[in-house]
Amino acid sequence: VKLAELPTPALLIDVARMHANIRDMAAAAADAGIALRPHFKTSKCVPVVRAQLAAGAVGFAAATAAEVSALREAGVAEILWAHQPVGPVKVSCAVTSGATVGIDSVEVAGPLSAAAQRAGATVPYLIEVDTGLGRTGVPPSAVVELAKALARLPGLQLRGAFTHEGHLGRYPGDRSKVESAGRDAGSALVAAAQALRAAGYRCDTVSVGSTPGATSAPFVPGVTEARPGTYVFYDANQVALGSATLERCALTVLARVVTVRHDGVAIIDAGVKAMSSDMSVAGNGFGIAGQGLEFAAANEEHGYLQGPGAARLRVGDLLRIVPNHACGTVNMFSGAYAVEGDQAVERWPIVARH
Ligand SMILES: Cc1ncc(COP(=O)(O)O)c(C=O)c1O
Repeated sequence: VKLAELPTPALLIDVARMHANIRDMAAAAADAGIALRPHFKTSKCVPVVRAQLAAGAVGFAAATAAEVSALREAGVAEILWAHQPVGPVKVSCAVTSGATVGIDSVEVAGPLSAAAQRAGATVPYLIEVDTGLGRTGVPPSAVVELAKALARLPGLQLRGAFTHEGHLGRYPGDRSKVESAGRDAGSALVAAAQALRAAGYRCDTVSVGSTPGATSAPFVPGVTEARPGTYVFYDANQVALGSATLERCALTVLARVVTVRHDGVAIIDAGVKAMSSDMSVAGNGFGIAGQGLEFAAANEEHGYLQGPGAARLRVGDLLRIVPNHACGTVNMFSGAYAVEGDQAVERWPIVARH
């Protein structure tokens, strides 16, 4: 169907752009000589997963128990659950799913070890290393001490170390800083892996992961895999970070103008319940509307477009808006339209939203 026939707001995936993004990241991973393990949180969409696997992805990373289950239902066996499994439901999912999990403390590991023992299972894990984000993970200097403590717990098997160099998102407009911070993160993780090996621990997997870091961290010698997620679609934030040009962005929200106010501000039917409330890393607006428009503000079901282009807009006009953060926007929709040219050719379910 023609885009004009779709209900709005609608989530659109430009299939040709998506395939180009998948192909190019697969080529970059091959270049770096590492395995590519895309993060499922971005698409939450099985047809997208299939395209990534067909291009050579070794498996997937997941953030939530629902994502782990959805990947398993889709037949993906090789899963890194890059998140601490805390609480009974997540512990049980970690023990039964066969996924490799992330651990950064004995407090996380204790209940997991007990549950694994009860089930007669062994849960593989990676130690999470904080290379600058300041979220989860231990500092590189603390990995050996943690490995020592975890080695006393039965039912767990150390496979390596991982980091999410999400702090690269702090440098919009400064690609050289993004690149150097990515190399530093990769080097810090490799040093942690070497310390683990020197202390007699197994460390086969050395996994970095982010889209802004995909051109730097995986190229540090000693890194074995990368887990970019956003690259499959890119978004306005990745454009601000220099990870991609606007022309590579495959995900848009289709919206309609519903009011043109007398002061020239145009109101569209896409607000935070379509775009998500994720702000721009560059500090401006809710997405890129183009055509001299600034997406300045949003309520739940309304977006406010201003700027020189707003005067041209009429009620009923269609706009395709590139969201700030693809992962957050996908999670607002239960389905995405696969678009070829100006035609929606299929509707793909978005799964594992909760
Ligand atoms: C643990 C982990 N790995 C990988 C990624 C993928 O990073 P990006 O969204 O920059 O592609 C994320 C994203 O938040 C993450 O949290």
